[in-house]
Amino acid sequence: MKCLLGGLCVCWSLILGLPFPLMKSSSNIMHHEMSPHHPQHSIPGFPDRCDGLGFDAITPDEQGVIFYFRDEFLWKGFNGSAEFINNTWPLLPTHIDAALRIHHKHATGHHDRMLFFKGNQVWQYYGTTFEGKFLIHEKFPGIPDDLEAAVECPVGECAQDSILFFKGDMVYHLNLNTTTVKARSWQGLGHCGAALRWLERVYCFDGTKFTRFQPSTGHIPSGYPKDARDYFMRCEGRGHASWNKTSAKSIHNRCSNESFEEFNEDQIGRMYAFRKNWYFRLDTKRDGWHPWPIHSSWPSIHGNIDGVFSWDKKMYFIQGSQLFIYKAEAQYTLIIGYPKDVTIELGIPSTGVDATFICPGTSLLYVIFGNQVQSVNLEQTPRALGNGTRMGHPHVDGAICNSNGVHLFIGTKYYRYDSPNDLVAWKSIPDARSISLDFMSCAPGG
Ligand SMILES: *[C@@H]1O[C@H](CO)[C@@H](O)[C@H](O)[C@H]1NC(C)=O
Ligand SMILES: *[C@@H]1O[C@H](CO)[C@@H](O)[C@H](O)[C@H]1NC(C)=O
Ligand SMILES: *[C@@H]1O[C@H](CO)[C@@H](O)[C@H](O)[C@H]1NC(C)=O
Ligand SMILES: *[C@@H]1O[C@H](CO)[C@@H](O)[C@H](O)[C@H]1NC(C)=O
Ligand SMILES: *[C@@H]1O[C@H](CO)[C@@H](O)[C@H](O)[C@H]1NC(C)=O
Ligand SMILES: *[C@@H]1O[C@H](CO)[C@@H](O)[C@H](O)[C@H]1NC(C)=O
Repeated sequence: MKCLLGGLCVCWSLILGLPFPLMKSSSNIMHHEMSPHHPQHSIPGFPDRCDGLGFDAITPDEQGVIFYFRDEFLWKGFNGSAEFINNTWPLLPTHIDAALRIHHKHATGHHDRMLFFKGNQVWQYYGTTFEGKFLIHEKFPGIPDDLEAAVECPVGECAQDSILFFKGDMVYHLNLNTTTVKARSWQGLGHCGAALRWLERVYCFDGTKFTRFQPSTGHIPSGYPKDARDYFMRCEGRGHASWNKTSAKSIHNRCSNESFEEFNEDQIGRMYAFRKNWYFRLDTKRDGWHPWPIHSSWPSIHGNIDGVFSWDKKMYFIQGSQLFIYKAEAQYTLIIGYPKDVTIELGIPSTGVDATFICPGTSLLYVIFGNQVQSVNLEQTPRALGNGTRMGHPHVDGAICNSNGVHLFIGTKYYRYDSPNDLVAWKSIPDARSISLDFMSCAPGG
């Protein structure tokens, strides 16, 4: 694979675990559709987004395509050239202050709407359908006019579905459930001229510099700000050019034939696939795909995991003889005192765990060792592992139980059983299905 400019910048952004929104939907991140040979095509008289002047606003639409706005122009997605805003949204003014996609599943008239702010007004669209123009103080009491940036913050990342508005040094946090507004000032975040939530991460842009921040606390991880031209767009001569390792590529390419160590879904519907030191989030696929280092969401975990399951609003990871337990709130927080010994905690051996799963609403944890399935009731003390039953598979990589049944993951395939009973009382093996097609939204054959 020839890897020039943009191509290499992709590779590099992956190894750093940094944002790169061009891995859209079904595109296979390492493949030719991200042709590195065509950075930005500029139409004469239209601006080039690599010029370093930054953006007025950045937002995804309801399909996950990201729009970058500056003056009367917009750029669609990662690689398009500038167009007039009014080609897409004829009623919008030029030079908008802020834009966002709203996330509020409980209010179907608001969910997935795009809002554009200018002066004291807000325009509401569903896709490109205009739904109304309002005064900001009427639609969002407590939110000031002349905003600089705005971004959605759904439940899971904020305590309840929320919107963050930025003006000057202030951040206005609007809780959509309660409609209460809290104004704060976050030292260190600096000026936010545009804000974007991409996958589960939130970024503030000031010119072309961007900073990731934690939307409920304002905490900024180390290493920021960075330059958006290296990560959020492909610009000639930018990006990094030193990463070229085939093995890492197949780990980061969700459609490769590399196996996954585990899958898990937590109580608020966040679904993950784990592979080596990395994870993919599956329930945000509309906005694209990106491999993130496991420790970026679950601090203290490094390297392959053996088992993972969610129970009682917590997420449990088994790694060798160690058990890590995280509180599953907006952020995952390691419970003090962990990791602890998995045998003492769960009554299961400290070696040989291949996969674990627990069905929603139950307390029976299933542990798979080789071809044996055993279970332990997490509500009993002391916890003790029951007798093993032989399944129809000599070995599995990972397992998950959700409302669709039990899924066992082996290499590039998975096998579905209706229930744990069906798994242990098997008469025949169900048909193998493709993980990349059914879980990772990959193209057939890719
Ligand atoms: C942008 O990339 C998509 C595929 O990733 C391609 O279909 C499209 O033609 C590209 N557009 C430009 C302007 O290069
Ligand atoms: C769209 O906006 C541009 C720039 O402001 C303007 O020149 C053009 O006339 C507008 N087109 C329409 C159809 O309003
Ligand atoms: C938000 O409100 C809806 C109903 O209006 C409710 O179903 C939901 O549980 C609330 N969310 C939270 C996190 O409280
Ligand atoms: C990347 O690695 C491949 C195989 O290891 C090699 O053939 C290729 O020349 C390398 N490309 C660059 C730009 O170093
Ligand atoms: C994975 O795919 C590569 C080519 O994409 C192939 O060379 C390799 O043999 C495959 N590995 C397995 C285990 O199927
Ligand atoms: C496990 O096996 C032992 C010996 O075969 C038997 O005595 C015991 O009842 C079994 N326990 C369960 C829970 O089936």
